[in-house]
Amino acid sequence: MKHAVITGASGFIGQAVCRTMLQHGWSVTGLVRRTPANPLPAIRYAAFDLDKEMPQETITAITYADVVIHLAYIAEAPRQLERNVEGAKRLLRAAEVAKIQKRIFISSFSASADAVSAYGKQKFQIEQLFLRKGDVSLRLGFVLGRGGGLFDRTLRFLQKSPVIPLIDGGKQPVQVLLVTDLARIIEFVAENEVPSLISVASRDAFTFRQFYELLSEKLGLKRTFVPVPFFCVYPVAWFAAKVGLRLPINTDNLVGLRRARFRDVSSDIEVFPFPLPDAATALRSLEL
Ligand SMILES: NC(=O)c1ccc[n+]([C@@H]2O[C@H](COP(=O)([O-])OP(=O)(O)OC[C@H]3O[C@@H](n4cnc5c(N)ncnc54)[C@H](OP(=O)(O)O)[C@@H]3O)[C@@H](O)[C@H]2O)c1
Repeated sequence: MKHAVITGASGFIGQAVCRTMLQHGWSVTGLVRRTPANPLPAIRYAAFDLDKEMPQETITAITYADVVIHLAYIAEAPRQLERNVEGAKRLLRAAEVAKIQKRIFISSFSASADAVSAYGKQKFQIEQLFLRKGDVSLRLGFVLGRGGGLFDRTLRFLQKSPVIPLIDGGKQPVQVLLVTDLARIIEFVAENEVPSLISVASRDAFTFRQFYELLSEKLGLKRTFVPVPFFCVYPVAWFAAKVGLRLPINTDNLVGLRRARFRDVSSDIEVFPFPLPDAATALRSLEL
């Protein structure tokens, strides 16, 4: 039986990937900081923290696994960038000791050499660590699905707030994909030889305004959308962070959002033997 090791196995995407790998006959070790509240049956869990060296028992548990899929990430300051990059280096050193051949990194559309957000920079720097023959980095658009991720946080915000601010009018593009499709893609990548860098999302894009409008409609909510210039929101987010207030968006998200660009993913997603839906079909098919 093939053995997959998944970091971030307790997270939104991680849980979906664990389920799909099991369905496709893999054995799975989920690397987690603590055993999840709702552990998935048939998954073995082992201790892993991006901020620490991997414990010897964990290295023993994953030795000779076929693939490591790196999803875990530290989302918050302080030193988000350095901690994620150092954590990825530690993981790869441990994977080397454990003699794991195939390595997959879950990156983002935000990754680029000239990224300005800490998130985009760390994703790009970690991609540079996954350059061995057979390594794959998947750059994802916005992942749709229930289960505690960014999409769930967006839904909660729409449900709570009758007025939705649209940064710079919400004209930035957003390309989406369903978490169920993503999990199938990751399983396919684990099993097959594919290019080393693949962007994965719908071929087409919503604007953020359209995305929020369609989501509100799907939720049966009437919302007022108010365009707000970036230079007004940024100081508010900066001040909120200083005084420890949690807003749905932080300064790093804001600078990343401002740089969001449409990507032509057509040739990338042709690698997969199943079609990905366009953005509207993906959103329509989602149960909220
Ligand atoms: N969701 C999207 O739309 C999207 C888009 C592009 C890329 N991605 C990438 O996909 C990956 C997974 O995202 P997600 O949406 O599933 O996020 P998520 O639900 O927040 O999951 C993050 C995971 O990272 C783990 N983690 C956090 N800090 C850790 C640490 N110090 N050591 C070890 N594990 C730690 C969390 O474990 P705990 O349960 O212990 O907190 C959790 O399992 C991320 O790398 C993200 O950048 C996501």
